[in-house]
Amino acid sequence: MKRTIVLTSFICAMLVANLSFGQTTKKTTTVKKTTTVTKTVVSKPSAADLVMGKQALTKSDCLACHKEDTKVIGPAYIDVAKKYAPTEANYDLLVKKVIAGGSGNWGTTPMSPHPSLPPTDVKKMVQYILSLK
Ligand code: HEC
Repeated sequence: MKRTIVLTSFICAMLVANLSFGQTTKKTTTVKKTTTVTKTVVSKPSAADLVMGKQALTKSDCLACHKEDTKVIGPAYIDVAKKYAPTEANYDLLVKKVIAGGSGNWGTTPMSPHPSLPPTDVKKMVQYILSLK
């Protein structure tokens, strides 16, 4: 009895080994087509982030050139919010722009650079601005 069990399990093992060996040799290489999916990650900032963003804007010099609903020297924040969807990519883009300054998106008047502002604060400002529309 014991011997038959040992024998059967041996045969089974051989079969399995053979089967899997057979499978590896039979395998054909199929090239998978990958499609690039561009996800628009809309991230929702917390209410606290938006409040902090508004406070940081008020403390900094932003309001000297920007108003929420009318163009002053810089574009109205509502118009900025209409132009850019609230995605992580746009937050990054605008944080860089506010810190480095520059012109060309709304006209030839440049925005002054803000190198001393911490990017985390600027991100909250931008999140607040893009929440305005
Ligand atoms: C000296 C005036 C001035 C100050 C101060 C200023 N801005 Fe601007 N801002 C501008 C101008 C002008 C533009 C348009 C730039 C362009 O055409 O690319 C602009 C554009 C922007 C944009 C849109 C950028 C784009 O590429 O579309 C954002 C967001 C912004 N400002 C946020 C801020 C924040 C936040 C502050 C305060 C930390 C600030 N600005 C301070 C003048 C100013």
